[in-house]
Amino acid sequence: MNKHNVTLAISAGRRDQLLRDGKCQIALSGRSNVGKSSCLNKLLGRKSLARVSSSPGKTVTVNFFNVDGKCYLVDLPGYGYAKRSESEKRVWSNLTDSYFQNNDHLALVLQLMDLKTGPSRDDRTMISYMQEMGIPFVIIATKLDKLNKTNGAKNLKALEDEFFPTPVFPFSSLSGFGADSVWSLIEKTVEVFEAP
Ligand code: GTP
Ligand code: MG
Repeated sequence: MNKHNVTLAISAGRRDQLLRDGKCQIALSGRSNVGKSSCLNKLLGRKSLARVSSSPGKTVTVNFFNVDGKCYLVDLPGYGYAKRSESEKRVWSNLTDSYFQNNDHLALVLQLMDLKTGPSRDDRTMISYMQEMGIPFVIIATKLDKLNKTNGAKNLKALEDEFFPTPVFPFSSLSGFGADSVWSLIEKTVEVFEAP
């Protein structure tokens, strides 16, 4: 799979724009500002394919990136952004609920968590939701660069213990640490999805 052959297929702001066209989907989920768009850019080796912002709530649509005609990497809007209005939150939950419900093209969710701050209440709710829905997911523990070795290892262990047996991938969009491992997982997932 050629990761450099990428196009934005659609920025879906309404449920009828969500794509279900046979290609496998791998989605990035997590709270607002955790680094989903940065992670996607790093995985694809691009600077600003997905829009990154220091102010939370940047991604408000479900963005489908077509990778080499083989799969979609899906950048989801983040949850837990307190400053959103009630109506914005409703739009968010309608859209993301529609995205997750009955989506048999969804092969894997990359659930991002901030390694420094650890899981939030919303992160735990999200994990329970995916477990109940039977959605396959792994945890990407991001912003590894913000911690020293000792604390990085300590916080990783805490995540692994809490969410055992879910695999936890240490990651940094700044240094690129973990990008190769996560990319291999994505390729493997696409292969398995395509296998007859
Ligand atoms: P929403 O679109 O609001 O849901 O946010 P997002 O999850 O897409 O986060 P985004 O990628 O826009 O990043 C938010 C902020 O975190 C930006 O200022 C990034 O530069 C920063 N950031 C993201 N990943 C990392 C990382 O691995 N290390 C460090 N130090 N900063 C990061
Ligand atoms: Mg984003």
